[in-house]
Amino acid sequence: MKVLLVLYDGGKAAQEEPRLLGTIQNKLGIADWLKKQGHELVATADKEGEGSEFRKHIVDAEVLITTPFHPGYLTKEIMATAKNLKICITAGVGSDHVDLNAANERNITVAEVSGSNVVSVAEHVVMSILLLVRNYTPSHEQIIAGGWDVAPMARHSFDLENKVVGTVGAGRIGYRVLQRLKPFDCKELLYFDYAPLPEHAAKAIGVRRVESLEEMVSQCDIVTVNCPLHEKTKGLFNKELISKMKPGAWLVNTARGAICDAQAVADAVNSGHLGGYAGDVWNVQPAPADHPWRSMQHPLKGGNGMVPHMSGTTIDAQLRYAEGTKKILENYLSGQSQDPANLIVENGDYVSKAYGKRDTKAGERKEEVRTA
Ligand code: NAI
Repeated sequence: MKVLLVLYDGGKAAQEEPRLLGTIQNKLGIADWLKKQGHELVATADKEGEGSEFRKHIVDAEVLITTPFHPGYLTKEIMATAKNLKICITAGVGSDHVDLNAANERNITVAEVSGSNVVSVAEHVVMSILLLVRNYTPSHEQIIAGGWDVAPMARHSFDLENKVVGTVGAGRIGYRVLQRLKPFDCKELLYFDYAPLPEHAAKAIGVRRVESLEEMVSQCDIVTVNCPLHEKTKGLFNKELISKMKPGAWLVNTARGAICDAQAVADAVNSGHLGGYAGDVWNVQPAPADHPWRSMQHPLKGGNGMVPHMSGTTIDAQLRYAEGTKKILENYLSGQSQDPANLIVENGDYVSKAYGKRDTKAGERKEEVRTA
């Protein structure tokens, strides 16, 4: 059996730090284990273009493993060349890099390590909210540059207390973000999701459901995006929706870059309509040097909390998603059924209910799984 791993090149850092598991150097810690069983393993970071190693090896691979941090984008066209492919495993959370409808047509299973990095992301979201609201980054940069000028920094710095915060998507990450925000005494915590939270879970943090996205964003000082990328969320935060946000509101997106229109966000930050934008996900990864999110800036400076895709790949998270990937592979190799919480699509249908509101043949998954 041929297993294709598409991971990023961790260079010297990965040679020095074996716990950087999501790299071609450390191969999720599964290389020896697979080789001992006589399987062929190919690990590559070369994933773009017709002549890439990804295109070359996908042709006869039975298993594709990739991380969302450096994803091998498995389009319908590339999938058509993958004659032996049976299962795609996402070492992490978020399987939008696979054309899921095409996977259903070809009966390919797509599984991910659900829950493996949701706390890592939720912590990053809270940090990003605070650094935008408190105007942290330009203040820190001023210090590094040898300066000391409080007024221009304090002018665009606020408290999180008494602000309205809303999440688009209240699944594993969205719920954990709300839980972590509770002690900040926000004015209100809101969520928009077609799947309502279990009553006790909503009550535990005092969150209110808003049935229309436009209505929710117009009430929020801070909006955080925590839903998957699918047909209905691609380009969701476009010029029109952003114009409905309160002037000076902050937007944090650690879900997927393509959920936001890149230029519309940059224009809104540069004009000051948005107080700032932060996140770690980009519509193209790696992001080009001239991507508008690298240079966007609020008129009062700052307002930009972008980092490379890293919120879900802390050392702790890598250990969890590497272990979870191995478990999914073990199940596959031994013919055992997968944990339903890890399945996105199987047997030609969606198992997960998170990739858009649709009728599926698959049975109802317990809502409790999102908040447990
Ligand atoms: P989850 O499946 O537990 O929750 C997703 C929630 O989004 C569900 O409640 C679903 O009903 C809701 N949803 C789907 N479409 C929606 C829509 N149109 N409007 C409102 N809500 C909608 O997933 P989880 O674990 O919370 O992860 C969410 C996403 O976060 C992943 O799909 C992935 O794209 C992203 N992610 C990013 C990471 C990073 O490193 N930046 C790491 C892990 C996940």
